[in-house]
Amino acid sequence: MELRGKKVIVTGGVRGLGRSMVESLISKGAVVTVFDIDGQGLAELSASCPGVGCVECDISSYERVVEATARYHTEFKSADVLVNNAGILYSSPLVRISPSGIEKHDLGMWNKTLMTNLSSVFFMTACIVEKMIYTRTKGVIVNISSVSASREMWGNPFCCQGRRECADRHLAKALSAMGICVVAVAPGYGNRVHKRG
Ligand SMILES: NC(=O)c1ccc[n+]([C@@H]2O[C@H](COP(=O)([O-])OP(=O)(O)OC[C@H]3O[C@@H](n4cnc5c(N)ncnc54)[C@H](O)[C@@H]3O)[C@@H](O)[C@H]2O)c1
Repeated sequence: MELRGKKVIVTGGVRGLGRSMVESLISKGAVVTVFDIDGQGLAELSASCPGVGCVECDISSYERVVEATARYHTEFKSADVLVNNAGILYSSPLVRISPSGIEKHDLGMWNKTLMTNLSSVFFMTACIVEKMIYTRTKGVIVNISSVSASREMWGNPFCCQGRRECADRHLAKALSAMGICVVAVAPGYGNRVHKRG
């Protein structure tokens, strides 16, 4: 895909894999906007990459996503590409057995992981795709998954990435009729990107 001039949204683009994608997309001439919860990180990103659009948004909240994407659309009309990258890593088994008893998986963290790693994909995609359809944009949705989604069970338990892959298949089926392409990328481990000094 020719990226020059294409309007690309990257969620979680302040650091890690998202930041690398942002830098690579900019070098290819894309018009990049980052949606991230980290306001301070966005300020730093904006200072070091002056062309990047920065939107502070907690993508695990539907109301915030509706409001932030509406602002984006006022400025850009429609995105060409959405990269659903933001995620949190919380890895814990269902039960942990220790001499002092059995500790259950934390319910608050279960809900937070589910909202951040799975529901956010639904929120962002629904809001961005709606405008793609209105503007007849043949866009692309890229979902960053994980090897944790593998059936081989070598990933982090209860990280919700498997559900994200399941959502990918449904999204791909639902959106292909509108000319919108959905792809999933499943990185392995050791992809942490360290800040260059
Ligand atoms: N790093 C790896 O080795 C690896 C391996 C497999 C899959 N992944 C997946 O790749 C994606 C990125 O991973 P990473 O290691 O670069 O993560 P990271 O923790 O380095 O960066 C995550 C980014 O998402 C943002 N973010 C977190 N919660 C948010 C929210 N509620 N709203 C908006 N932004 C939010 C953070 O501020 C941060 O900028 C994740 O979905 C992760 O599951 C990473």
